[in-house]
Amino acid sequence: MQRKDSRISGFYEKAIEERQEIVKEFAGLSEEEAAQLKNFGALGKERAQQMIENVVAGFELPMGIATNFYINGEPKLIPMVLEEPSVVAAASNAAKLSEGFETSSSEPIMIGQIQMVKVKNAGKAVKAIKKKEKELIEKAMAVDSTLVKFGGGPRKIEARAIKGMLIVHLLVDVRDAMGANAVNTMCERISPVLEEITGGKARLRILSNLAVHRTAKAKAVWKKEKIGGEAIEAILDAYKFAAADQFRATTHNKGIMNGVDAVAIATGNDFRAVEAGAHSFAAYKKKYSPLTKFYKNKSGDLVGEIELPLAVGTVGGATKTHPTAKIAVKILGVKGAQELAEIMAAVGLANNFAAMRALATEGIQRGHMKLHAKNIAIQAGAEGTRVEEIAKQLAEEKNINVGRAKEIIEGKKTKS
Ligand code: MEV
Repeated sequence: MQRKDSRISGFYEKAIEERQEIVKEFAGLSEEEAAQLKNFGALGKERAQQMIENVVAGFELPMGIATNFYINGEPKLIPMVLEEPSVVAAASNAAKLSEGFETSSSEPIMIGQIQMVKVKNAGKAVKAIKKKEKELIEKAMAVDSTLVKFGGGPRKIEARAIKGMLIVHLLVDVRDAMGANAVNTMCERISPVLEEITGGKARLRILSNLAVHRTAKAKAVWKKEKIGGEAIEAILDAYKFAAADQFRATTHNKGIMNGVDAVAIATGNDFRAVEAGAHSFAAYKKKYSPLTKFYKNKSGDLVGEIELPLAVGTVGGATKTHPTAKIAVKILGVKGAQELAEIMAAVGLANNFAAMRALATEGIQRGHMKLHAKNIAIQAGAEGTRVEEIAKQLAEEKNINVGRAKEIIEGKKTKS
């Protein structure tokens, strides 16, 4: 038998069918499994290949719509793409219980970093860079005329010395783009000038995902009459826990990102960039903390607030190439990246409220278990309306496992 080899020469040049065949052989996929790979869904084979390298298949996730959102007085339907049950329902429910969301955002300013090494006198170099700021900005400006036409472009240069290196920040207003391409190109373009000015050598030239100048905020009130004074106290206890303990704060923020990422993915945005930025911001200039704040107002109602960096775009990248992402942006009816970021902040706040309310009152397992039972029923082979019936029985018997689900499908009675 021939030895398996993952070093496949020219894999990227092969036709997609050939790549699928290689993977089928390598992994011993059945005919049925291999056929499944050929279904590219709404994305389509051509488009998939234009997006990434070495494509063998499309990959689908469900898109749900969170309802009940009013953002700055406007009704919104929110497309959310993720694999986890309960998140869409939780966001919808939190929005329903709220008095609506008020949002705001800063200008879409991204930071590009240029690392300079071998700079002899860092203090002198910082001053020299400041002196040549206008020239450097003009050089960066020449990179992206479209961005400049839409009112964006490079804005400022900052430099500081750390650990024997000189770190230069180029601040760029990227308008409705995520901005990575524009920022990275500008950093590369100005680095030879920086080398001339400082006598050093430019190494890394890349944007920072800690987009502290590009944040979105959302605020909401949950009235005492609607959710109950006891629930408010319980939620504030939950919040206190997250504010005091990093182990809890991490999970607290994960619940926020359930909503934020789901909208990022639905709209074709880079959710890893959003994740990296959010968690780093949670620890920016302080210990790792919750991205939200909760407190009571004078009337005793619960107020929730969130602020996080959101480097998301509505032009360029997958927002414009992925057919379903384009539709998601249309469903949201956003005018630009800032509005999208604000909506994402509101959804994150909603998911956080919902998680804390569930955790601090009845616990989240009851709701989860219903959906878990459905998954188990499907795994056991249930189809159509039987899925719901079997899930219900599993939940009633408090015995949610595939073995029991199979027994029910085969018509076996409960053991007494
Ligand atoms: C699960 O995806 C998210 C939660 O763990 C968030 C939280 O604990 O706040 C429920």
